Amino acid sequence: MSNARQAQHPISPAFTARWSPRAFDGRPLTQEQLRSLFEAARWTPSAVNFQPWRFCYALAGTPLFEDFVGLLVESNQVWARHAGALVAVLSQTTRTGTDGEEKPFASHAFDTGAAWMNLAMQAHDMGLATHAMGGFDADRARQYLKPPANMAINAFVAIGYRGDASALPEALQAREQASDRTPQEQWVFEGPMA
Ligand SMILES: Cc1cc2nc3c(=O)[nH]c(=O)nc-3n(C[C@H](O)[C@H](O)[C@H](O)COP(=O)(O)O)c2cc1C
Repeated sequence: MSNARQAQHPISPAFTARWSPRAFDGRPLTQEQLRSLFEAARWTPSAVNFQPWRFCYALAGTPLFEDFVGLLVESNQVWARHAGALVAVLSQTTRTGTDGEEKPFASHAFDTGAAWMNLAMQAHDMGLATHAMGGFDADRARQYLKPPANMAINAFVAIGYRGDASALPEALQAREQASDRTPQEQWVFEGPMA
């Protein structure tokens, strides 16, 4: 890590040590590694334990991986093609009610966001880096992944072993460092916000 992140208050060092690099070394992940990552996601809490998350993945070195890379916006393709795996994070937006009607499942994105973070922290624990991407072609991703209509495609995640930043395009080399955060005072409120 090129700049040391400073926590404002005592926390597990894993939270500041994890960050989202773009330089990956291209080594494919194994199926077993991915299963551990999904297993961490599996234990995420969700409203009524509905577990709305879904994941589609492709391992580097497979034809599927090339397909997945092609679903990303160009600016993400440049670096994400060197990841060891790409994972699409989806969530089920509705749930069948007791009356048999499909109703919006309000916390699908909240729960699935937590699931991706469990995955990311497990990856960090295994010496792997993750980088989430909202930059993908939503129409082409839907065409390719073929999720049911009530499934949202939230993000793609690049996962892999960190690589050498010098292999990145110059503009990205400068950005290859852990970012800071705004202080708690700006977004934590004791009681109402105003
Ligand atoms: C939902 C989501 C979408 C993101 N989309 C992109 C993206 O398309 N391209 C990219 O390079 N980084 C993307 N990022 C990475 C963020 O910019 C990065 O996580 C953030 O700056 C915090 O940095 P850190 O993860 O290194 O702590 C995304 C992150 C999230 C959570």
